[in-house]
Amino acid sequence: MSKTDQIQSELSDGILTLRINRPDKKNALNLAMYQALADGLKDADSDDAVRVILISGTEECFTSGNDLADFLTTPPTGPDSPVMQFLIAISEARKPIVAAVNGAAVGVGVTMLLHCELVYAGSGAIFQMPFVSLGLCPEAGSTLLLPRIMGHQRAAELLLLGESFCADKACAVGIVTAVCPDREVLVTARNKALQLAAQPAAAVRLAKNLLKRDYAPQLRETIVEEGRQFMERLKSPEAAEALQAFMERRKPDFSRFS
Ligand code: COA
Repeated sequence: MSKTDQIQSELSDGILTLRINRPDKKNALNLAMYQALADGLKDADSDDAVRVILISGTEECFTSGNDLADFLTTPPTGPDSPVMQFLIAISEARKPIVAAVNGAAVGVGVTMLLHCELVYAGSGAIFQMPFVSLGLCPEAGSTLLLPRIMGHQRAAELLLLGESFCADKACAVGIVTAVCPDREVLVTARNKALQLAAQPAAAVRLAKNLLKRDYAPQLRETIVEEGRQFMERLKSPEAAEALQAFMERRKPDFSRFS
């Protein structure tokens, strides 16, 4: 498994915990972190000791999504890039995934949740999918999964306006299983993971597989196509303006682009 201390990995009681830990950058995901998450998920699939995967951030933040500086310096270049490996690994994981969300969950911090079975969020968690606001496009299979989960209009609202929304709304639209007090999120998620780990593992894997059966074939194709468009959009003047504006801590101005 690749190593970075920004992804802490621990196996106990049949639960592989992958903890995103880069607090000074709000747990923004860089290449090494994507690779460590991808490797952790792939290894978990073939390790009989792992019955459940638990993904968490730190107490203050889940993840602010892709490192925006990396979009400028080391953008993803193709299907072998660490981000694509991560998206394929999480979307095709055979074992159940539980997520514990505290604080901000932005971009892929939200879309990765669509591939989890159980998602627990703190009442103070804030969600946002600002892909379009950054001049980019949605990813991680979200253009397939969000309308299935919540319908076209609600998915369009979250994706096209890119506004942040609270944990109660995330739960109401169906991307969070339950909302709990912030300080109880991790313990709640771990208890549910323990409960899942005690279930008959083969039956759990089969049920997960059957739940995804009707859209699984389209999922990889969607992730690949979104990824292709996303990489193109990264070269667009709109994205350049949005990313520059983030670095300069100002509002982007898209008025000169048609
Ligand atoms: N990529 C790179 N750096 C990031 C980052 C990201 N996605 N998110 C936050 N950071 C950095 C900030 O640049 C800042 O770094 P600095 O201290 O060296 O200046 C540090 O993390 C703290 O961020 P800050 O914005 O001051 O924290 P906040 O609590 O006010 O806001 C967020 C937190 C997550 C709401 C805000 O940082 C944000 O919107 N980040 C961008 C999210 C994003 O667009 N992600 C990509 C989606 S595709």
